[in-house]
Amino acid sequence: MLIMKDYDFKVSAAGRINIMGEHVDYCGGKVMPAAISLKNTVYARPNGTDKINISWSNLPDKVTLEIDNLGNYKGLKYGNYQAGSAFVWQRAGHKLVGCDLHYDCSIPFGGGLSSSAATEVSTIAALATAAGEAFDNIDVALKARQAEREYVGVNCGIMDQYASACGKKDSAMLLDCNTLECEYLPLKLGGYSFIITNTDKPRSLMRSKYNERQAEAEEALALLRRKLDLKSLADLSVTNFKAYATVLPKTLKKRVEHIVGECERVRLASLALKAGNMEMLGRLLNLSHASLKDNYDVTGKEPDSLVEAAQSQSCCLGSRLIGGGFGGCTLSLVKSNSVEEFKEFVHNSYYNATGFNAVFYDAEITDGINITR
Ligand code: GLA
Repeated sequence: MLIMKDYDFKVSAAGRINIMGEHVDYCGGKVMPAAISLKNTVYARPNGTDKINISWSNLPDKVTLEIDNLGNYKGLKYGNYQAGSAFVWQRAGHKLVGCDLHYDCSIPFGGGLSSSAATEVSTIAALATAAGEAFDNIDVALKARQAEREYVGVNCGIMDQYASACGKKDSAMLLDCNTLECEYLPLKLGGYSFIITNTDKPRSLMRSKYNERQAEAEEALALLRRKLDLKSLADLSVTNFKAYATVLPKTLKKRVEHIVGECERVRLASLALKAGNMEMLGRLLNLSHASLKDNYDVTGKEPDSLVEAAQSQSCCLGSRLIGGGFGGCTLSLVKSNSVEEFKEFVHNSYYNATGFNAVFYDAEITDGINITR
């Protein structure tokens, strides 16, 4: 490859889909993501200085970070994720060496497929490799998440960084966000395929709205704890939710209804996947979207139109918005031999409803981190 000959090694970290379990990772719930072949690749070479030079394939900008000054780059227009990742990794006691890092990302930015997590994870893996250090993928995921929370300012859960670092080819991950125990489930979809579709709507309010939801979940937990012994919101059973919902104001009640329901849907989705029951998986996707729309209020005109168009097709067993919401991508479970007609219908119907062009991605389920020398 053209770029590779100028660099010593390359590290890639995957984007992800999330089959089930939206907005439950920061509530200690289980989620079911899978790493995809859309990825962020960093070409790297040590440069013998005390600087990290950053460039991109699709941006004219170049950014230089001084290794001794990494705490001071918060808010950079470009390079913020890299600075945060390097800062957190260094703070954890790891040695950094000066290097040139060139980024090539096939994950759409801000599309809800974890472009940020893939940038953080690949940056840390590249920095460790440049310094000659071996790393543990789970540790990289945890540090990447710290960078996102502390440096970038999104109070996210662990799902994206974990999927990006620890994904496995052809497997979904059933990840317990409380304990970080992860069961890998073979992703066998019978004659069906997952179709990823981008609403292509810029997600301007994503950060503030996401943090608002996370704060609401914390507030609800504090209120419920006055009555119940709960480690996290994900521990709340359906029965206890019904019994104690009255302690919650109306909006928080809807938020908790989503979380309790979504945790149950993850459990059922893992059973459906194990049993090869695609109809059930499809129904759960539809229920999840309805709850994200009506209870969690994270969808909006574009995601709803895209999902409605998909759901109206008999070849589609289910469809929902994935990721943080307020735009981004949807995931649809579609009969493999009807994919082309499905895409054409959804594209036209979505364009008529919103004026946006839906973008479809062909992605496989892959490993999280890959290093090539
Ligand atoms: C974003 C966050 C994740 C998760 C999802 C919603 O992708 O980074 O931690 O909360 O939103 O499920």
